[in-house]
Amino acid sequence: MNLSTADTKWNANLYDDKHSFVFKYGEDLVDLLSPVTGERILDLGCGTGYLTSVIAASGASVVGIDSSFDMIAKAKTAYPELDFKVQAATEFYFDEHFNAIFSNAVLHWVLQKEMAIDCMYRNLKKSGRLVLEFGGKHNVARIITALQNSLIKHGFVENAAIPLWYFPSLGEYTSLLEKRGFRVTYAAHFNRDTKLADTENGIKDWIKMFGSAFLKGIESNQVDEILTETQGVLAPTQFKNGEWFADYKRLRIIATK
Ligand code: BEZ
Repeated sequence: MNLSTADTKWNANLYDDKHSFVFKYGEDLVDLLSPVTGERILDLGCGTGYLTSVIAASGASVVGIDSSFDMIAKAKTAYPELDFKVQAATEFYFDEHFNAIFSNAVLHWVLQKEMAIDCMYRNLKKSGRLVLEFGGKHNVARIITALQNSLIKHGFVENAAIPLWYFPSLGEYTSLLEKRGFRVTYAAHFNRDTKLADTENGIKDWIKMFGSAFLKGIESNQVDEILTETQGVLAPTQFKNGEWFADYKRLRIIATK
């Protein structure tokens, strides 16, 4: 799911192998969506298409979009019967509007949030619903702080200040939705400590996969030093019973047009 940042080039295979927790946690978001046969649904930021296929299993007609060409190529290969397109969250357009727009673990990448909200509004049918989950305020704050401190210590002050993600509070995002005309019917902001796949390099792998923009232009030996230091600093809070955990804070929102 790569919807706004040119510096973040996704590796679709690594994403599926080591970071599949992103879409596995999304399965109960599909329950919240409750898709039914005959509905037309958009999966916004569909990545490699796993949740799109879960939604399609309900009998609904689903379209998956993602701005990453590699992700869409992999989704099309994995689910050739489904409809996938390369489109960005801030400028997608469909002639036929949707009964629901679903988005899991994507909208924190979209810094132009008003544009995405406007697109979602315009592409929904009247009374259509949004079902969203993404990183909320303080999401991965421990990881970001430890990484920024290490970058600054090694002299990479500008890297440390790169704006990469948007993690709003519940009040902030629901206000933006209301301002555009949505009625928010459910909203929650909760902790979800998330187990990372690799018991040795869990934090390092997570940063390499998702936060590589922070490391842009830094020599590989220094990247190693920074990542080792960052992971070491996080060990007392994020390493438990032999496993690494990311300090995720999720926003879940349902709203209607
Ligand atoms: C998240 O799902 O919260 C997330 C994933 C990658 C980068 C930042 C946040």
